[in-house]
Amino acid sequence: MKSASACAKTILFGEHAVVYGEPAIAIPLIHTRTYVSIHPTGNEFRIISKSAHLNRRFEDLRRESGLYQLLLLIKKEFSLSSLPNAVMKISSNIPIASGLGSGAALSTAIIRAFAAFCGKQPGKDEINQMVYEIEKIYHGTPSGIDNTVIVYEQPLIFIKGSGFTPIEIDPGKLPLLVADSGIRSRTVDAVNDVRDHYDRNEPYIHQIGDLVKEAVHALDNSDLTEIGRIMNETQKLLQSIDVSCPELDELTSIALQNGAYGAKLTGAGRGGNFIVLCRDEQHSKKMRSIYEERRIHVIQ
Ligand code: PMV
Repeated sequence: MKSASACAKTILFGEHAVVYGEPAIAIPLIHTRTYVSIHPTGNEFRIISKSAHLNRRFEDLRRESGLYQLLLLIKKEFSLSSLPNAVMKISSNIPIASGLGSGAALSTAIIRAFAAFCGKQPGKDEINQMVYEIEKIYHGTPSGIDNTVIVYEQPLIFIKGSGFTPIEIDPGKLPLLVADSGIRSRTVDAVNDVRDHYDRNEPYIHQIGDLVKEAVHALDNSDLTEIGRIMNETQKLLQSIDVSCPELDELTSIALQNGAYGAKLTGAGRGGNFIVLCRDEQHSKKMRSIYEERRIHVIQ
């Protein structure tokens, strides 16, 4: 049996604008992961995921699904004549369709598990390229930030088409809470709507990008007040391009009413997760219980 995993991610600054060439900052959520194991058995290749209620032979997957296409790609890239007689088990702590990169994490974990199973050692660049191909099936025109931060498992500044710059972020100095609004939303819909109204959105897109540049300095200096301010400004701009929703507006306002430095949605928006910059560990515990009282799942 061979197994592997991949982490979730959160976008701190620059979502949506990153699709148009602006920089964005993302960090891996190393404790929130998708796990994949491959067990040699039987005379077919079968995929089992309890959380996704999936128990299906490879041949029975929908041909256009990301999972089917990923397995075909692995077969080609790893020069396999056929998929092995095995059961591939998937389990995950990453909520789907909620801005934490569940699709990219699943693809990454599957590629890593196959590499271990087949004795291959693909480099991170190669894995990143494979995951990006499948992201296109899930999201249409992805910037590539999700696959990059997940495959490299490294905080980074990302610019579409020009790669990434690793950055140092000490999680101990950034008391960040990640929580799930519980509303599921498809990235592709939000991204398409922003594009459909690009003429109206363009000034806001550039302002989001400008804030990312300010955020790089604030993060460098661990200036929590400034990081929080930039989060709040970004949230307003994300509202202006219509990718927030009443629930996210309320959940981020609750953070500010309770003393947080800043709060914003993360990822494509219209639901999914939001992030809160707390004052310290103690405050983080307080915010956690405020959200949990409202039955909001705090991811970390
Ligand atoms: O919601 P997610 O995790 O798929 O984040 C997508 C981030 C966007 O900037 C909205 C789209 C992209 O491809 O960068």
